[in-house]
Amino acid sequence: MPSNVLVAYGTTNGSTAEIAEAVAAVLRKQGLAAEALPARSVTSVSPYDAVVVGGGLYAGRWHKDARRFVRRHGRSLAGRPVWFFSSGPLDASASERDIPPVPGVRRAMDKLDVAEHVTFGGRLVEGAKGRIARMILRSGKGGDFRDFDVIEVWAARVAKELIDGQKNR
Ligand SMILES: Cc1cc2nc3c(=O)[nH]c(=O)nc-3n(C[C@H](O)[C@H](O)[C@H](O)COP(=O)(O)O)c2cc1C
Repeated sequence: MPSNVLVAYGTTNGSTAEIAEAVAAVLRKQGLAAEALPARSVTSVSPYDAVVVGGGLYAGRWHKDARRFVRRHGRSLAGRPVWFFSSGPLDASASERDIPPVPGVRRAMDKLDVAEHVTFGGRLVEGAKGRIARMILRSGKGGDFRDFDVIEVWAARVAKELIDGQKNR
């Protein structure tokens, strides 16, 4: 049974980090060892049996730290069970339907043979970095659209698949 899970994330404004922490907490609750770390701080995935990679969405792309992480560790990831998630939509759409991965993430999934991806709602609130972020906020389109119940259900399913060995390669 894979026991040590890395949840690596790319974030600018912290909301994807909180999702990653929530995922890791569920995995631990299910009896696995799991830690959430900024993707840019991970030097090797070899201590881990399985990896979850999450990134905030920016202009139709995964956060650059998540993109770099999969590029840098591609070979190691290809030999492990891997799940991807994205976080972005600043509306209820992610709670209402499955939102497919953006094209760059789809390509990474194909390359690494990653079967599963989920899009969670995003968050943009006062204090966010960047001119465009401030413009979005000024136009009244900010808010927190993350649904932690949905996130926890997804994480529990990841744990179950790992524990059942369905994703062992
Ligand atoms: C400049 C900018 C561009 C964004 N582009 C997208 C996008 O293309 N698709 C999307 O779903 N969300 C987009 N968002 C929303 C973010 O993905 C959302 O705020 C997310 O939760 C940010 O994650 P973070 O807090 O971990 O950085 C954008 C937000 C900003 C500020």
